Amino acid sequence: MSKLKTALAFTKNVFTTGAIFETSRKVELSITSKLTDQVDLVVVEYGMGHGNITKEILNKISADSKVYAFEVNKDFCDLVAEQIDDPRLTIVNKGAEDIDQVVAEQVDHIVSSIPFTLFSKEKTQQIFEISYKKLKSAGSFSQVQYSKVMKKKFEKFFDRFEERTISKLPPEFIYHCYKK
Ligand SMILES: C[S@@+](CC[C@H](N)C(=O)[O-])C[C@H]1O[C@@H](n2cnc3c(N)ncnc32)[C@H](O)[C@@H]1O
Repeated sequence: MSKLKTALAFTKNVFTTGAIFETSRKVELSITSKLTDQVDLVVVEYGMGHGNITKEILNKISADSKVYAFEVNKDFCDLVAEQIDDPRLTIVNKGAEDIDQVVAEQVDHIVSSIPFTLFSKEKTQQIFEISYKKLKSAGSFSQVQYSKVMKKKFEKFFDRFEERTISKLPPEFIYHCYKK
C-alpha cells in the first residue's frame, strides 16, 4: 500500500482512524520494542489500519507466537488479509472493546494505535479495564499518542508507566504501560 493510498483511505475515515497518515517507521519500532522472540507469546493489536505495525509485530515475535489484530474498518481488514499471509496472524473485524469475545487466553502484550482522544470517557474506561483484565502479570500495553491529553489517564490507570518522545513536531509519543 503506497503512503498516498493510505493517506486517502485514512482521510476518508478520519473520524474513526483519528489520523491522516500511517504512523512513522520510528513509531513502528518503538511501539513494538517490548516484544521479544520468546516462545508462545500472545500479542493483541488494537487499530491495525493498513497493517504497518502488524508487520513489525510479526517480524519481532517467534514462529510459535500469535497475534490477534483488531480493526473496526472492514475495508482495512480485507486489504491486510490480502497483503499478509501469515498463520500467526488472526485479523478480527471488531473493536478493541470486544477483546473478551475473541481472545480466550491471557495476553502478553497489547500494541495499540486506536484513537482514544475520539472516544467517550466510558468507552476509554471500558477498553482500559478489559485490557488490564486480559493482560498477564508483567504484561505490557503500548500506545501511540499524538498529544499529551491522555498521559495522566494512562499514568494513573496502569501500575507502571514509561513515556518515549518519538518526535516533538509533529508530536508523537509512545506510552509503555505495565500490569504488576
Ligand atoms: C491512527 S489509525 C492507526 C493505523 C495503523 N496501525 C498505523 O499505525 O498507521 C487508528 C486505527 O484504529 C481503528 N479503530 C478505531 N476505533 C477502533 C476500535 N474501537 N477498535 C479497533 N480499531 C479501531 C481505525 O479504523 C484505524 O484504522
